[in-house]
Amino acid sequence: MKKNQKSLDLDTARVSHGSGYLTTNQGVGVNNTDDSLKAGKRGPTLMEDFIFREKITHFDHERIPERIVHARGSGAHGYFQVYENLSHLTKAHFLSDPNLITPVFVRFSTVAGFRGSPDTVRDVRGFAVKFYTQEGNYDIVGNNMPVFFIQDAIKFPDLIHSVKPEPNNEMPQAASAHDTFWDFVVNTPETMHNVMWLMSPRAVPKSYRTMEGFGINTFRLVNTKGEFKFVKFHWKPLLGVHSLVWDEAEKIAGKDPDFNRRDLWENIENGNPVEFELGIQVLNPEDEFKFDFDILDCTKLWPEELIPVQKIGKMTLNQNVNNFFAETEQIAFCPANVVPGIDFSNDPMLQGRLFSYLDTQISRLGGPNFQQIPINRPLPKVNNNQRDGMHRMTIDEGQTSYYPNSLNNGEPHAARDGESHFEHYQEKVDGHIIRERSASFRDHYTQPAMFWNSMSDWERAHIIDAFRFQLGKCKNKNTHQRLVDMLGNVDPVLAQKVAEGLGATPPANATNPTTAASPALSMENTAKSPK
Ligand code: HEM
Repeated sequence: MKKNQKSLDLDTARVSHGSGYLTTNQGVGVNNTDDSLKAGKRGPTLMEDFIFREKITHFDHERIPERIVHARGSGAHGYFQVYENLSHLTKAHFLSDPNLITPVFVRFSTVAGFRGSPDTVRDVRGFAVKFYTQEGNYDIVGNNMPVFFIQDAIKFPDLIHSVKPEPNNEMPQAASAHDTFWDFVVNTPETMHNVMWLMSPRAVPKSYRTMEGFGINTFRLVNTKGEFKFVKFHWKPLLGVHSLVWDEAEKIAGKDPDFNRRDLWENIENGNPVEFELGIQVLNPEDEFKFDFDILDCTKLWPEELIPVQKIGKMTLNQNVNNFFAETEQIAFCPANVVPGIDFSNDPMLQGRLFSYLDTQISRLGGPNFQQIPINRPLPKVNNNQRDGMHRMTIDEGQTSYYPNSLNNGEPHAARDGESHFEHYQEKVDGHIIRERSASFRDHYTQPAMFWNSMSDWERAHIIDAFRFQLGKCKNKNTHQRLVDMLGNVDPVLAQKVAEGLGATPPANATNPTTAASPALSMENTAKSPK
């Protein structure tokens, strides 16, 4: 297989330990690593045994903190190619030339479990892609469901605290099967849409090769004329979407906790390429307020019948990692990693995410220099005045480390016209500083009802069983009732069936919004920001 540019870059960091005599980290030869140095055959080990101390000290520090979420993951290398020149939409160079091969690294993950937790649990799956473009690293850090549980990043710690094992006894391990998660859900109705997806077969993918990916948040594409369009990103697996049966997923979790990881690894090892098409939904700025949902609300999807997904390119994963820790564990994705031509929206989830990833990685990867770890370094030369800090790997030469300077003829200089550089889209922002959202953020049931209506009979049966099973693990009967009442706003039959399974009372006044004309398909304007 021909190596891509990133693989060649990684080659410069690879070290083979196949032959030769053992040494310490100082390069001093060692002829015995089995016996520590003792005072007599039966005496205590001596402090001066630097060979013992070095070996044990390194071992003592072999672990780094696991990711605070998405700790369990599997990664692979590959490449991306765009189908057509998209320069009318974006100046992103890697989306302009169908002949250009852009190396990628992808990490699939579960969200709630620990690093060693089983693959086939009911959970959202992470789908994070790093493009090593010629203009720098670009990341799409998405999930396998098109919406998220909450509307504002400030609630993320609450969501995750409710999903993780409870703090007093670190139980239970199953994320969507305990009191705190369901307590959060019934107190936070904006979770309803993602909870519907979580109870569906999408939450137990058969393979990482057969699940969709979604960037979820709204972004912008910006072209050289400075014109922009809103965009949502999609990954479509060429093998189609396939899920496990729930009963089978549970058994596999016990029998083969590495089920999805092994499937990915073995297929790549056997030369079966893993392929996804990249799709975009594009929205003209003048249509921003034409929907009954706010396009900045990530608990809502953009209905594909209104805004079709255009397939713009293909990603092929074809190379396994050489070292799990160095590549899959140390890779650092961040939604703020964008290249010229791709920009953010004001989605309050996205805005918070832009802060969180770099922040957490400074502690997870041991300081501010983790971008120098081989898997994270970009293909273009990094050229700036940042210096020093823990684990700095480069020897940055020269007298000056500031700009502007005269002592080094003003170099390195701020990028000039014609030199690749990022410029933020110059959006006009004019409003009051408030902690509020558009009114349509409060509609928590229209899209869950659309989702329920789009399900086939077997999918509905799966969802009802999942609610009964997962909520059945929750001891608090009051929570059961409140959840059933919420489901009454999605569909009365769903609410009734779940209530029957839990011994709760079906909601008396449950309306069925799905029998009314679907407002999501209307072009009524309710999404304007409060002034
Ligand atoms: C990690 C997706 C919301 C904080 C991840 C990963 C994915 C992901 C896929 C794993 C990346 C990897 O494989 O290394 C998403 C999506 C979100 C979302 C799709 C919503 C649309 C948030 C929010 C926050 C957040 C709101 C915080 C305000 C984190 C943190 C990590 C993480 C701290 C760990 C990063 C690391 O240690 O490298 N997220 N996330 N996420 N996410 Fe999110």
